[in-house]
Amino acid sequence: MIDFNPYDWSFHEDPYPTYKALREEAPCYRNEKLGFWALSRHEDVMEALKDWETFSSADGVALEFFGPSASAVMSFLAMDPPLHDRIRELVSKGFTPRRVQFFESRVRALANHYIDQFIDRGSCEFVNDFAGRLPMDVISQMVGVPGEDSEMIRRWADLVVHREKGQPGIPPEGAQASGQLLNYFRDLVSAYRKAPQDDLTSALIAAEIDGDHLEDREIVAFLFLMAIAGNETTTKLLTHALDCLHRFPEQRAQVEADPALIPAWVEETLRYDNSSQILYRTVTRDLEMHGEIVKKGDRVALLIGSANRDPRVFDRPDEFDLSRDCGALASFGRGVHFCLGASLARLEATVSLQEIQRRLSQIELDRGGLVRAHSGNVRGFAVMPMTFRKSMQLTSR
Ligand code: HEM
Repeated sequence: MIDFNPYDWSFHEDPYPTYKALREEAPCYRNEKLGFWALSRHEDVMEALKDWETFSSADGVALEFFGPSASAVMSFLAMDPPLHDRIRELVSKGFTPRRVQFFESRVRALANHYIDQFIDRGSCEFVNDFAGRLPMDVISQMVGVPGEDSEMIRRWADLVVHREKGQPGIPPEGAQASGQLLNYFRDLVSAYRKAPQDDLTSALIAAEIDGDHLEDREIVAFLFLMAIAGNETTTKLLTHALDCLHRFPEQRAQVEADPALIPAWVEETLRYDNSSQILYRTVTRDLEMHGEIVKKGDRVALLIGSANRDPRVFDRPDEFDLSRDCGALASFGRGVHFCLGASLARLEATVSLQEIQRRLSQIELDRGGLVRAHSGNVRGFAVMPMTFRKSMQLTSR
């Protein structure tokens, strides 16, 4: 009998054996106690992601059932077309590839700023000193949050996604932090409406399609989504990148010898141990899957982390292999909700790892000191102590 419980932290320590059992023995799994189904095979997960008419996001994409209020905090992530498409198109007017590309030099500057703070120590706690800071700094700079507030926003965002061991639901601190974040962004939007700047928030205020504009509450919900979706996931991607390479020394030697492999390092990390592991949907009609009857209104978990390890699609899925074709990645979703920030996440990870590799050598993780984050659907490290040497010969970028 498979016991798949996303609130069980021992499951998050290593979910992959459970995923394997689910894929082989119960591809349409039912958890009666928590009241959800789970799809674990690559084909099923990808089809469900694409089929928004059957697998609706309107009740939110977390196990906690938000119902119609989901979009107040999760914006168009918690909407189906056509409502989803209207906001996504307006937001895309501000969140352009040009704006993302413009951030490359800023990401590099931020990465070096943080490395400068700890490089002489020969050790750091990678989450607190780097990976937990850079993604929120990037989002803050992008949306126009003043530098001094970035830390506070990060603290609130961390509280929003934190879950207590064994406890379903959002802890009171998380609910309070949600309110604080929303209030903060409300003030930010009204300030930029009065005095627009050259930032994403001002671009969203100005965004227009055929006379249609975003309302303040819609911009606030989008900023909230950015702070949650764009922060935690990228932090965890950076921690997984170091962890994966240290588990596979042969692959590590290859990247160290050839920095051109860094983008492949990022892609294979996204596949091997993705930060976004589980997305939930609500089924809009009765359907039969793998001999089970899933009823209209039932909640279904789409196991992205499992899809990425499905041997039907990825040969030797439990090996970290830089030469692999990662084209079938489930990591950023699929279809109408495909991650808006995928190129930004890839840029942040690639540039960060380039600078880390350029300036630090002989990185060793203190495996005894690693602590995993406690979160319902995001996987990664909350604490990652490491030692290193300063690179003597700096390679050019
Ligand atoms: C490693 C980093 C990241 C991962 C693994 C990731 C993963 C995902 C996934 C799986 C979805 C689809 C959700 C669904 O179908 O319900 C998604 C959506 C989204 N992501 Fe990301 N994400 C990452 C980084 C970012 C960043 C950096 C941003 C922006 C700053 C961002 C913004 C968004 C937004 C706005 C959506 C909603 C898109 C929509 O509903 O149309 N993400 N992300």
